[in-house]
Parts: sequence; structure tokens; C-alpha cells
Amino acid sequence: MTRKEGLPQFPYDYIGEKAKEYNNLEWMEQNQKRTTLKCLDYLFDPKLGDLEISEFFNYIVIDLGCGTGFSSEVLIDLGFNVIGIDILKDMLFKTQNKNISYEKNQIHELLLGSIINIPIRTNCIDFIISVSAYNFITHNIPTFSEKKSVISSTARYLYQILKKNGRMIIEFYPGDEQNLNLFLSSFKKNKFNGFHIKGNKGGQHFVLLKKRGYNSEM
Ligand SMILES: C[S@@+](CC[C@H](N)C(=O)[O-])C[C@H]1O[C@@H](n2cnc3c(N)ncnc32)[C@H](O)[C@@H]1O
Repeated sequence: MTRKEGLPQFPYDYIGEKAKEYNNLEWMEQNQKRTTLKCLDYLFDPKLGDLEISEFFNYIVIDLGCGTGFSSEVLIDLGFNVIGIDILKDMLFKTQNKNISYEKNQIHELLLGSIINIPIRTNCIDFIISVSAYNFITHNIPTFSEKKSVISSTARYLYQILKKNGRMIIEFYPGDEQNLNLFLSSFKKNKFNGFHIKGNKGGQHFVLLKKRGYNSEM
């Protein structure tokens, strides 16, 4: 996978040797980590309202589509408790071989599963972050109406697992305007407040969301 090839193909670019290659690419690691830090900046965006955080170890963050764990590493380094979820074991299990150092009692759980159906109970997650993965939830879904339905039920479920005032920052590549609007309207329809920012890279978008309590611009 070189930088020139454009957007990666799911699942081919994340399986077997490709997963290994992904995990060993220094530029990919830097990219993912830089984007994760940008998402963390957005987590504290004043337009979402004040966010007073005590110690990061008091909070649980889900990393949606955690891949081989570059984004999770940033979150763990800061002290957050992290639940990483990925649908591909070739990616997810690479995280286990990393030399990550943890604070005492810091939690890092890995879940093999899909973003569209996470086995987590409602109202228990502080923050959700997703870097370069959310656009894949519609992979292999043939019709527009099925796509719309999956996108909407995923947003509804993510809303439910967040605590009140919980926040979710998604960086993704929805493809075209129609897809982008499908994703944005799914958040609005499912009661998220927040807004959308176009990223600097081609096709890149950020969505900044909060569970209740803020006047939506979306
Ligand atoms: C660009 S990669 C991972 C990026 C990640 N931020 C990192 O630090 O490595 C995108 C990941 O999304 C995962 N993915 C795609 N569709 C998914 C789904 N429905 N549920 C969970 N993970 C998914 C892929 O398996 C892949 O590992």
C-alpha cells in the first residue's frame, strides 16, 4: 500500500500480508496518529459546549474500526481507558503484539465485531472516536434503502451506548455528496447535536457530535 494508490479497498487492503504491511508502514502510523490527535482536539471543540475533564483515566473511549491500534495507542498514552473494535482479526490481533505501556488499572479491551452491532450496554461510554473506518459500514450493501437503514440504525445504537453529554468524533471518507448526506442525516435523525467539518485531505470529513444539550448546526 503506497501513498499514491488513493483510498484503500475494504477488506482486501486489511487482510493477511496487507494487514502486516499496513501495520509496518511508518507513514500510515504517523497519519493515523496525527488524525487521532486532530479528533481529540475536536472532542474539546468549544462549539460543542464546555467539556471539563478531570483525569483521562476516569473515561472510557471506544475506538471504532481500531485496525492495528495506532489510534488506540494515542488514546492509551493519554491515559484513557480504551475499547477497540474491529471486524477483521488480521488487523485487530496485531494490536496484541505491540509494546504498549499501561498505567495501573488502565483498561484496554479488544472486540472482534462490527461497528454496526457493538455488544455494549447502553449509557456507559464517555466518548467514541473513529479514524478512517466509519465509511466502511456500508461495504457490500447493495441498495440505497438498505444502506440508509444500516447507517441510521448504527447512529441510533451509538447514541444509545453513549452516556448523557457523551461525545463522538468521526473522521471518514464517505465518497460522494449523497453518501455524506446520508451519514449526516442519520446523526441528526437520531438526536445527536453537532456539526460537520471538511478535512484538508481529498474526500476527508470530520463529524463532531454530542448526545443532547447543544443547538445543532448540522
Ligand atoms: C484505516 S483502518 C484502521 C484505522 C485505525 N484508526 C488505526 O489506527 O489503525 C480501517 C479499519 O476499519 C475496519 N472496519 C471496516 N469495517 C468495519 C466494521 N463494519 N466494523 C468494525 N471495523 C471495521 C477495518 O477492518 C480496518 O481495520
